Amino acid sequence: MCGIVGYLGPRDPKDVLIGGLKSLEYRGYDSAGIAILHRGEFKRIRAEGKLLNLENKVKNEEFDGHLGIGHTRWATHGPPSERNAHPHCVGGVSLVHNGIIENYSELREELGRGGAVFSSDTDSELVAHLLASETKSGRPLFEAVLAVLPRLRGAYSILAVSQEEPNVMVAFKNGPPLVVGKGHHEVVIASDVQALLPYTKDVVYLHDHEVLVVKGEEFKLTAPDGKPLPIKTVHINWSPEQAEKCGYPHFMLKEIFEQPRAVAAAMAPHIDLALKAVKLQRVGFGASSVEDLATLKADQDWAATQRVLSETERVFIVACGTSFYAGMIGEYLLERLAGVPVEVDIASEFRYRHPVLPPKSLLIVISQSGETADTLAALRMAKGSGTKVLSICNVKSSSIDREADGHLYMNAGVEIGVASTKALVATIALLNILALAMGQERRQLKAAEVKDFLEALQAAPSQMETVLAYNQWFSEAAATLKKHKGFLYMGRGVSFPVAMEGALKLKELAYMHAEGYAAGEMKHGPLALIDDRMAVVMLAPQDDLQEKTISNLEEVKARGGKIIAVGTGEDPKLRRLSEHYVALPEAPWTVNPLLEVIPVQLLAYHVASSLGHDVDQPRNLAKSVTVE
Ligand code: AGP
Repeated sequence: MCGIVGYLGPRDPKDVLIGGLKSLEYRGYDSAGIAILHRGEFKRIRAEGKLLNLENKVKNEEFDGHLGIGHTRWATHGPPSERNAHPHCVGGVSLVHNGIIENYSELREELGRGGAVFSSDTDSELVAHLLASETKSGRPLFEAVLAVLPRLRGAYSILAVSQEEPNVMVAFKNGPPLVVGKGHHEVVIASDVQALLPYTKDVVYLHDHEVLVVKGEEFKLTAPDGKPLPIKTVHINWSPEQAEKCGYPHFMLKEIFEQPRAVAAAMAPHIDLALKAVKLQRVGFGASSVEDLATLKADQDWAATQRVLSETERVFIVACGTSFYAGMIGEYLLERLAGVPVEVDIASEFRYRHPVLPPKSLLIVISQSGETADTLAALRMAKGSGTKVLSICNVKSSSIDREADGHLYMNAGVEIGVASTKALVATIALLNILALAMGQERRQLKAAEVKDFLEALQAAPSQMETVLAYNQWFSEAAATLKKHKGFLYMGRGVSFPVAMEGALKLKELAYMHAEGYAAGEMKHGPLALIDDRMAVVMLAPQDDLQEKTISNLEEVKARGGKIIAVGTGEDPKLRRLSEHYVALPEAPWTVNPLLEVIPVQLLAYHVASSLGHDVDQPRNLAKSVTVE
């Protein structure tokens, strides 16, 4: 959940590091720092708070060296402060760290007994002490890293440099992501590919338990015992501009408006336009690794995928946060369209509840980042018991993507806003496609039914464009909406997970109390919350449950609740019952979540903006939760 960047090359490292940290700031922004060689030693500058504070501190600083590391922090051990900001420098060694050293206490006691003097409350500083104790006897940094790694427990990615070796960087990955690339006589290492794109589009993702050694313009990968490992280069077709805001005030609003394109990009590869049928592409159940996907023969791959789709007898869907709510929608889609039993679980529960995974089960893991620790752990646990895993990720070659057996890609492009939006709708589109494919292969759906559902899905992007027009309305209504004491989001069927997502968006952006509930649960408690200061967002699109939802609405109205209703088309009853009414285009129940999620996203975005919150980087959060 932190951002790491390292540079060795002819440019001024300050420019590269600050630019890299800017593209990584969404990974954590409690504090930031850089350490760059100057007159043979590392000159370190750190600042608490946003990266801008560090930028202001370093802008007039000069460095004569060409080696440097940088870090933007999401605090795990030690409160956000300058003293706890990375890089940590001990005895000529400087390092930056992302993750958690779980045996932190015993290491700190041992080092303390040995006379170590600590200048921070962090677990990361301990690693700098351990490395310094190895290098002070003249050991090269690479060997020092190999000696220290076996002593560390936890999930951590580390980048270390030593003033004794001005043309060397050493990095190690065990959990949080690290990626490296060669530019023009230069090497850049970072947590995410965005920091590399200005210098190269050909990158190498480190796998867990790999050590990277950079010497001059070259680098190599080794195992923790020093044995050389092969290097697999991936070409990234994102442009740096794509990660820019393109004129929007925030990345999040840009990404909300990119959602129609994201839905189209997610499903397009898997639709056989001629046959108006589903043919999943490059899923990879027949491939031995995610790198082999590109060379897989399409028909051979589809045949392997068809076998999995038709033979699966039970599906488990596991994810966290917004991705979990997407999984809840997947349960409705897969059970109703494919007739397969589905269980959906929060990853942090699934991994510890000793789930029973019968033979012929399929685990679907959903993760925008592909690095969420609990989801990755759930994947590994299921694979360990022989269960096939299908990943739905937005980041190719991420840990979850690489370790799954089958792969579907959100293709949503880089998602910078910490609050996930376009990745969610891309996932909903993919779950539609997957459910249709399974229904098709299990003979649960006739060809004509698949064709109808597909046509409705293909119409969704343009329908989403019309719903985005409510942006102006929510921008104007926010000043009133933010005065409510709290929000209750309710829906039935596939609208229930959207209600949960709407509540999450308001919590994580506006820091207001909000709850998502199944509308049918209202009389079992939440109705007591209703009064004229409680706002109720009722998702009631035209579907087979709408009548029941409207009767819930009447119960709220009778108790003075302030209602924002989301329905289909002109709906006089909903208009009469609500203070505000949002009309969605007509669509089947399978597509409604793609439409009704937009108003709840816009509501949260504009209320948070009107409260002056940093929408792209909400407090206490990080884009990728790479520790449990
Ligand atoms: C969503 O707005 C949050 N940022 C968070 O709940 C997120 O969805 C969750 O951490 C899962 O992340 P992932 O999709 O990258 O695994």
